[in-house]
Amino acid sequence: ERVPHPLKLFRISPQAIDFTAPFPDSGIRAVSDVCLPPPPQVLSKIFSHEALQSYLPKIQLVIQDTLRAWSSNPEPINVYYEAQQLTFRMAIRVLLGFRIPEEELSHLFEVFQQFVENVFSLPLDLPFSGYRKGIRAREALQKGLERAIREKLQNPQGKDYSDALDLLIESGKEHRKELTMQELKDGTLELIFAAYATTASASTSLIMQLLKHPQVLEKLREELRSKGMLHNGCLCEGSLQLDTLNSLHYLDCVIKEVLRLFTPISGGYRTVLQTFELDGFQIPKGWSVMYSIRDTHDTAPVFKDVDVFDPDRFGQGRTEDKDGRFHYLPFGGGVRTCLGKHLAKLFLKALAIELASTSRFELATRTFSRVTLVPVVHPVDGLKVKFFGLDSNQNEILTETEAMLDATV
Ligand code: HEM
Repeated sequence: ERVPHPLKLFRISPQAIDFTAPFPDSGIRAVSDVCLPPPPQVLSKIFSHEALQSYLPKIQLVIQDTLRAWSSNPEPINVYYEAQQLTFRMAIRVLLGFRIPEEELSHLFEVFQQFVENVFSLPLDLPFSGYRKGIRAREALQKGLERAIREKLQNPQGKDYSDALDLLIESGKEHRKELTMQELKDGTLELIFAAYATTASASTSLIMQLLKHPQVLEKLREELRSKGMLHNGCLCEGSLQLDTLNSLHYLDCVIKEVLRLFTPISGGYRTVLQTFELDGFQIPKGWSVMYSIRDTHDTAPVFKDVDVFDPDRFGQGRTEDKDGRFHYLPFGGGVRTCLGKHLAKLFLKALAIELASTSRFELATRTFSRVTLVPVVHPVDGLKVKFFGLDSNQNEILTETEAMLDATV
């Protein structure tokens, strides 16, 4: 059993309000007094092997489009902000299969950001208060989601289970009754919320580490080359298979190490169901406890040189994550472990592959900025990076202006 925490705000309902008892004055009920989401067994279907395979080509396309846009921008981009947009887009277009026009999608993203920024506000319903802004944003979001859900229900894509919302609706029918519109809106909002900040944080950390450690990027390219995936620099549309992804061991080590050193979520909350003792201290029943993922990663004796970015620690012969069940837990642990962990890893791997094969990128500031831990890990300046596209021979693709300048020299 757990108490609500930042990731679980959507789960707080009038019936579940008792859960908030340990935090009576925290105001965490503020923006999220909605009803209960679909049960976890319904959500788990969304992340099955088949479902992941069907998302992969679409994820690849979204990432390719995004990297093209980043490379064609003559200015450096703010990676953290752009990664948030990218993960939001992935959640809306791939996970939920919404066919929202581009302009509306950008608007929805702004509203969503406003919702997230105000989700922790105190419940003071005053003009211009964070609470009022949060409530307004939530209402606007729910309207947008309802429109998209209705459009989808009216135009079903057949039974090929090509996205998570179809699965949510289908498995809802299998497990109990049909999900109500409110439950569908809550379920979709919960998925977007859970996927958004975490995956954007990890994507930013991945790019930062590839910039800091060019030898790691080169080794990644080496691995892709050895699998015949970089021979002409270009990954063709839909060519990426789940099995191929799973066979890239060094890539797996890189993603694992990013999530160890820059774990996006610092920990999780639980309610003590039974009084117990820990290191001589008694923890009474009913207390709220937090398990810390970050401290665990920082202090676990299995990791040598904990502060060093070293993907090889997970490689053959070392496998530092295998020594003990609870030393490495970027996605939490136990029955309430992250439901989207395979999707998150798949997304990060696809991003790393595209970065390694179709882009060159360099830091646009003199030094790397400080990393802050709240609300999720990210560099305080967002990480300013200039991207350049690579053609099929791994040569830089010049922008139109650069090409013209080149031609005149
Ligand atoms: C790098 C990216 C991600 C990280 C580091 C991450 C981490 C976590 C952690 C630590 C928890 C458990 C919190 C606790 O113990 O209370 C969690 C729960 C959850 N995550 Fe993720 N997550 C990520 C991406 C995603 C994605 C992409 C999705 C889905 C679209 C997702 C869906 C969920 C859901 C639904 C839960 C709640 C599970 C439950 O209550 O049974 N996560 N995540």
